Amino acid sequence: MCGIIGYVGDRDAAFILVQGLKRLEYRGYDSAGVATFHDGRIAIRRALGKLSNLENLLREDPISGSVGIGHTRWATHGRPSEQNAHPHRAGRIVVIHNGIIENYLELRAALQSRGRRFSSETDTEVISHLVDECVQDGLDLVAASRKAIAQLQGSFSIVVMHEDCPDRLVAAKSATPIVIGLGDSENFVASDIPAILDHTRKVLFLEDGEMAEISRHEVKVTTFAGEPVVREARTVAWDPVTAQKGGYRHFLLKEIHEQPQAIIDTMRGRLLQEKADVSLDELAAAPWLVNAQRIVLVACGTAWHACLVGKYFLEQITRIPAEVDYGSEFRYRNPVVEPGTVLIVVSQSGETADTLAAVEAARERGAKVLAICNVVDSSIARRADAVVYTHAGPEISVASTKAFTTQLTVFYLLGLYLARRRQLIDHDAAHALITDLVNLPKRIEECLERERAIEKIAKKYGDAKSFLYLGRGINYPIALEGALKLKEISYIHAEGYAAGEMKHGPIALINESLPVVVLLPKDGVYGKTLSNMKEVESRGGRIIVITDAPSPELEDIAWEVIQIPTSNPSLLPLLLTIPLQLLAYYIAVYRGSDVDMPRNLAKSVTVE
Ligand code: AGP
Repeated sequence: MCGIIGYVGDRDAAFILVQGLKRLEYRGYDSAGVATFHDGRIAIRRALGKLSNLENLLREDPISGSVGIGHTRWATHGRPSEQNAHPHRAGRIVVIHNGIIENYLELRAALQSRGRRFSSETDTEVISHLVDECVQDGLDLVAASRKAIAQLQGSFSIVVMHEDCPDRLVAAKSATPIVIGLGDSENFVASDIPAILDHTRKVLFLEDGEMAEISRHEVKVTTFAGEPVVREARTVAWDPVTAQKGGYRHFLLKEIHEQPQAIIDTMRGRLLQEKADVSLDELAAAPWLVNAQRIVLVACGTAWHACLVGKYFLEQITRIPAEVDYGSEFRYRNPVVEPGTVLIVVSQSGETADTLAAVEAARERGAKVLAICNVVDSSIARRADAVVYTHAGPEISVASTKAFTTQLTVFYLLGLYLARRRQLIDHDAAHALITDLVNLPKRIEECLERERAIEKIAKKYGDAKSFLYLGRGINYPIALEGALKLKEISYIHAEGYAAGEMKHGPIALINESLPVVVLLPKDGVYGKTLSNMKEVESRGGRIIVITDAPSPELEDIAWEVIQIPTSNPSLLPLLLTIPLQLLAYYIAVYRGSDVDMPRNLAKSVTVE
């Protein structure tokens, strides 16, 4: 998610813009830039890397002016570079953007056919050319912006400057946030409240499909169609740090709640419902994936759990044999790699040393490599033969949540993509699964509605010395993930186990002081897992069951029943994960650990 700020007033715009971008640094970025009206035209300064690089550039080559825009870029299309940094100019128009323009390739081609030349790889630059075309057709800033926006598909928050209108900005919102700060003879626009809190607490929020014309003394809000909108200003009570967390107490809780949007963004432009197919342009040059004879999935930590779910799903839907390994194991075990073996690596950061080493080990043996990463142009992404990105946005908290569920989402997309090309799933079956995927974000919202009940359970069991998590089949990896979440943020020992394996040892652990979390979806092995629950109950174990099929029988056996909505059995791992994330979070809060920065842990383990 990029950071956006705009200013219209009488003060030094460049200074205000850079300070505002600093308030948005927590969102993560790879480049930054500002543009102001300077000596009668729009001047742009952009730099790769941290804001300090932009500040150094502005010291060497300053720009004045009291109206301008600023941006920190989190790359989604086009590698991190100065050319791809925002703001982007086309003719007399300069634009900054947060979001994903789904139809940018066709718009770009059409613009190029009309003689337009591009200087970046971004989807954003398409917007500046579209607005400039309309301006050259005689439209003013607002009308030109309106007409250009009508051609965009996808998610966008944009701010537009026109070289002939040095006293105003136009902002527009669709799917990604825009907040307008109301000052005294000055006004602000930003992607998030922290960027403007140093100047004003009086704000108004644009809704999807709305735009604003912002000058020093006036903010005019209209719909994309031009209808006037009356919007009451609100006063923000948050301090800047709370504002960075969107009002949540921790980044972890914020990111747990961001998962529906992260999954929407990851699926955006990739689901072809009518065709009952999946579009993954990134794989157009990867026929070796469709024809793979064997898949080896490699990752670390939570990403390794995603690979386990991926294995179950990919084998089920594509019938390609798949195995899973840790990066730290794969790299040293002289793995067998035959012709037709494909390595799939999963990494949120794209910088995990053991996973990167596994990529090298596989490539040395002739394997093709597909990476599933959250950071564009990261080391692992660059070393892979093909990359499918999750669009989770920056994940700040050390414990991985939205990255994990978007990794699962990519596995669902990938499985469907391959199964359709291997003629292993018919139109109706694919369409049904795609429909369930489209409904997934709403199902996750329903899981998140259990938050208060889960917080109560967390307080009841937060003093336990150990937890056992049980799951079967495609949900067994979720038992592992639930245990890892608890371990890493609450420091309670926890173990995930295949439910059917409990009788081969862990059942010796069962007693009244051991909470046992059981994942019990109404799937093909429901009866087997229910039997395991009864084995636990008969030995006094304290059962917390998570299920989409509550019943009086379960109420009798379990101490706690957490209900989740049902869905396609293949998608239940994603829904079962949400209560486990919340349970771990609230137990950690109850125990007072450092939720976002747990002891001994790093967000990206770039060493062995
Ligand atoms: C998960 O909550 C942990 N932060 C950790 O296990 C993480 O998943 C692992 O280090 C892999 O990181 P990556 O996805 O960036 O490669």
